[in-house]
Amino acid sequence: MDERLRIFYELFDRRRSVREFDERDIEPEKLDRVLERLRRAQSAANCQPWHFILVRNEGRTSFNEVLTRDGFKKAPVILVACAEPEKAWVRKYDGVNYAWVDVAIALTEMIAAATAEGIGTCWIASMDPDAVKSILGIPDSMEVVGLITMGYPKTPLKREEKNRKPFNDIIHHDRW
Ligand SMILES: Cc1cc2nc3c(=O)[nH]c(=O)nc-3n(C[C@H](O)[C@H](O)[C@H](O)COP(=O)(O)O)c2cc1C
Repeated sequence: MDERLRIFYELFDRRRSVREFDERDIEPEKLDRVLERLRRAQSAANCQPWHFILVRNEGRTSFNEVLTRDGFKKAPVILVACAEPEKAWVRKYDGVNYAWVDVAIALTEMIAAATAEGIGTCWIASMDPDAVKSILGIPDSMEVVGLITMGYPKTPLKREEKNRKPFNDIIHHDRW
């Protein structure tokens, strides 16, 4: 395989959920590059129905109480991903609102960039969204999709085999 392709595919094998962080902060230029992926991400009908809040130093004391694991509390950056359903594309056939899909795609693109930079991340869906909204003053029109912890992992990211379903269990050809 071509070297550039190999590096690209290995990126996804390096990503894993990081739940223990080094205290070291993320360099501002790196963080900017990673966050730019959110801004440039694709979305249904290019609606970009999202807002992202970076919770760092000052904001962390009260925010840490919504985090369930002590390891998450050490992450230097927590990104709070919000969907704005009123701004999202809606599928006319069944009324499905794509706001959460769009947010998840933007986060996935950002997480890939973070991985390339050696920054560890973990999606956190398990938190009280109302507590997050009230601590951060998030308007009622927003929905908290998830939190992403970001920081240098205690053990560096490396290529890993993951516990996943076999290919043939999930890929179907021509029909179910
Ligand atoms: C939408 C979503 C929500 C998740 N929520 C949590 C969570 O609340 N807490 C947690 O520790 N990990 C959470 N994870 C991480 C998953 O447990 C993890 O991705 C999965 O076990 C596969 O492991 P890997 O990410 O290391 O490949 C979440 C992942 C996703 C994609």
